Amino acid sequence: MFYHRTPFHSFAILGLIALAVYGLSCTTEASANEDPSVKKASLNPNGDSELALLMRAMYDDAAQMKAAIERGEQPAPSIDHEKMLTAHATEPEKAASETYQTWAQTYLQMVKALETGESEHAPELFQNVVNTCMGCHSDLCPGPKMRIQHLY
Ligand code: HEC
Repeated sequence: MFYHRTPFHSFAILGLIALAVYGLSCTTEASANEDPSVKKASLNPNGDSELALLMRAMYDDAAQMKAAIERGEQPAPSIDHEKMLTAHATEPEKAASETYQTWAQTYLQMVKALETGESEHAPELFQNVVNTCMGCHSDLCPGPKMRIQHLY
């Protein structure tokens, strides 16, 4: 006898699910022990934002630089981190915020300092980079922090 309500209910539930998934990248921590190939699968039915994809590449690039430092080599970025200033985000108002833009400028300075610094200082300079990832994420996007922690 409640049949006439069903279409509305399904719609409302779908809307709630869409909302929950929409905020996923910044609110939910993907398991750090997941298979990396699974982790790269898109969870967002609308496709991952340009910024989300860039962030994953930034993570990989940071991991690559960490490995170089551990081998005693000079770390060098292999992607253009400056794209974070303009890449389209899941929540565009977040990336447009002064908080985001200020952290992004600090982050880019830290990457530059690491790239151009003396290799004997690379471990501390790399720490500064990861601290800046963490700083911005603490303010705007806590979900991936457990994952970023692995870069220390
Ligand atoms: C200036 C702020 C800022 C800095 C600095 C920053 N991030 Fe992010 N990060 C974000 C925002 C905002 C998102 C959400 C992107 C979206 O969903 O569009 C994000 C998303 C992510 C994600 C989740 C991507 C996904 O799969 O959805 C990871 C992982 C990540 N960042 C890692 C890093 C790492 C590693 C660094 C440093 C090397 C870093 N971030 C530096 C703001 C930042």
